[in-house]
Amino acid sequence: MYKGDNFRIIDKETFEFRMPEDRPMKILQLTDLHLGFGWMARNLDRKAMEDVTTIVERTKPDLIVLTGDTIFPFFLRTGTVNNKKQAAKFMEFMDMFRIPYALVMGNHDAEIGSKLNREQLGNEFRKGEYSIFAHGPKDIFGAGNYFIHLVKPDDWDAPLPNGYCRSDMALVMLDSNMYGKGWLTSGFDRIHADQTKWCMDRLEWLREYNPDMRAMAFFHMPVKEYKIAYEKMKLGDTSVKFHFGGISEKEDYFGISRYKEDFFEKAQKNGMIKAMFCGHDHLNTISLTYKGIRLTYGMSIDYGGYSGIKKKQTQRGGTVITVDYDGSWDVKPEPLSVVVTPKVRGLKLFTERVQKERAKQRERARARIAELEKEREERKKARKEAAERRNAKIKQFYEDKISKNRHTD
Ligand SMILES: [Fe+2]
Repeated sequence: MYKGDNFRIIDKETFEFRMPEDRPMKILQLTDLHLGFGWMARNLDRKAMEDVTTIVERTKPDLIVLTGDTIFPFFLRTGTVNNKKQAAKFMEFMDMFRIPYALVMGNHDAEIGSKLNREQLGNEFRKGEYSIFAHGPKDIFGAGNYFIHLVKPDDWDAPLPNGYCRSDMALVMLDSNMYGKGWLTSGFDRIHADQTKWCMDRLEWLREYNPDMRAMAFFHMPVKEYKIAYEKMKLGDTSVKFHFGGISEKEDYFGISRYKEDFFEKAQKNGMIKAMFCGHDHLNTISLTYKGIRLTYGMSIDYGGYSGIKKKQTQRGGTVITVDYDGSWDVKPEPLSVVVTPKVRGLKLFTERVQKERAKQRERARARIAELEKEREERKKARKEAAERRNAKIKQFYEDKISKNRHTD
């Protein structure tokens, strides 16, 4: 678990994160990495990690939020169901950047048949040097329901009022769970009613202490309003505002739940959640405002989750969210390469240029990973030597004590 001086654990479901000095805070949303770390996934994992490196180095975020399907314990695709090993490998990679990263679960991270279930995997997700994860309240659905309060540097040392609220912006992390009835073919699950209630109650409670408090929600599977808003926009409803991106899943597919859920409706009624971010549908990248709430599909990384996706490029990247001291915020896509529209995709020269640029990008990422690995080994060595020195000192202290006692005897 992350232990920096810009981070505090308030209770089992609340963290505080100090915003940087003199500039807005930068959050990078990454989603659907689908890292396998099995014998079948080696090449694809390498590509995914190079891409993550490129985006992280380019954007230099203060905090990374991973909205699920980070690892992929699916034997037929990766050759392993060992999500314990996957989580360890993933965190070893992420820790190299020395940037804190918060996690929510996707439907695949603890896939049916994988070594660890969601609760157990949550314990693993707490073991990274820079990872942030909390199970959240035990009596509600899901693993990984928690709040991260962003706090202005000037307020960081202010006394904590009763309501925990010295923040103007809360990041709400929610588990959208796996499959509705527990088995793979029962359809996608959703944010359950008890989770929604817990979230809205907490927000109301925070508002009592800070009427200007705002929030952003992060979860894996989209709520149904993503689809509703998109369809309304297509029919010419001008109340839906388009910001960027598109819907590229086949036949305008949205991986929403068929079960009843009302997270968006409750959030809209509450009025504090201004933006929602999800992943799940790897080819959808759209960002819309619907009924006053910004709905964004994060750009994804996946190389091995969807068959054939390794050849697709326009969906691949991250999403940058900036939050200022006054609570204002902005969302921008961070594509890995030039987003090629279908109109110019046919131009051979243009495609070749993009491919060349991507090859160079990969080379730079590989070199950076090698540098980071070297730094990590040096840090490990320094830590080991410091521990050895400490042990030697302790040993010496006791040896001196024993010999002194012997002399007095
Ligand atoms: Fe996924």
